[in-house]
Amino acid sequence: MKVLLLGSNGQLGWELQQTVPGHINLTTCDFPKVDFTSSNSIKSCITLSQPDYIINAAAYTAVDKAEEEKDLAFRINHKAVVEVANLCRKNNIFLVHISTDFIFNGKGHRPYKPDDTPDPVSVYGFSKLKGEQAVFDILKDNSLIIRTAWLYSEHGANFVKTMLNLMKNKKDLTVIDEQIGTPTWANGLALSIWSALEKRISGIHHWTDAGIASWYDFAVAIQEEALKTSLLKTPVIIAPAPTTHYPTPAKRPMYSVLDKTSFWKALEVKPIHWRSQLRSMLKNLLQ
Ligand SMILES: NC(=O)c1ccc[n+]([C@@H]2O[C@H](COP(=O)([O-])OP(=O)(O)OC[C@H]3O[C@@H](n4cnc5c(N)ncnc54)[C@H](OP(=O)(O)O)[C@@H]3O)[C@@H](O)[C@H]2O)c1
Repeated sequence: MKVLLLGSNGQLGWELQQTVPGHINLTTCDFPKVDFTSSNSIKSCITLSQPDYIINAAAYTAVDKAEEEKDLAFRINHKAVVEVANLCRKNNIFLVHISTDFIFNGKGHRPYKPDDTPDPVSVYGFSKLKGEQAVFDILKDNSLIIRTAWLYSEHGANFVKTMLNLMKNKKDLTVIDEQIGTPTWANGLALSIWSALEKRISGIHHWTDAGIASWYDFAVAIQEEALKTSLLKTPVIIAPAPTTHYPTPAKRPMYSVLDKTSFWKALEVKPIHWRSQLRSMLKNLLQ
């Protein structure tokens, strides 16, 4: 199996490289070797590699900045994805494309199913929705779209690493307790992608770790688990705060728990709770 990974230097891209099965022949491409703002660079990267499969983990992920860089967000998350998908169709390449919980408006009160109606509330969410719609329209069954949420990894900047840093340097913290979702270790998502390729699963699916939490719950868990290790010596006070406490340029869904049933069933996996995944990631951070 010859696989081309786009966005290899991101959180998910890095985890995909850490977990790649031995029989996969993996080629990687990241910015600036592949630049999603340049049609030529996308074309030459794919043409040179001639893969059987592409995993697209590249994206414009700066949710707040996207509100002012709308054209750039759409260039990377929509137009470039159209170009990748068209090249896949032309060369008969199966595309795995990663999307987000931010395609939903967050007004729901039960986990979002893959066929629930999207209604993004931010430029980032809208650009990602256009991207996944293009993949589905162009490639249909020759693609797999995986929506995920609240990713973290040992590699790159994310909530876990930011919190650990703040907990080391501050006496107290306030963290939003109104937004509800599922913290997700990118390592687990990477493993699910390799397994999905093996089983040739197609269509639109959801993947996060199991369980739900607010950002406040997540912060409290990070502190509790880190205190059990040498990552943190002394506890800080963590107080819950409403969303209005931290105004941001981009709106975020208040409830973005995803229903993973179809993907878990297709993959035949036993779901792992986000808290045990957090424990595993912190253990890796210690090494
Ligand atoms: N992070 C989350 O919480 C989250 C939640 C839901 C869904 N997702 C989705 O999951 C996927 C992976 O996310 P992630 O957290 O791994 O993202 P990430 O860490 O921000 O990585 C994004 C990757 O895209 C690359 N990239 C940025 N601009 C590019 C351009 N112009 N041309 C080519 N590559 C470019 C980055 O390269 P550089 O490193 O050189 O900038 C990086 O390798 C994305 O599709 C994202 O939308 C993420």
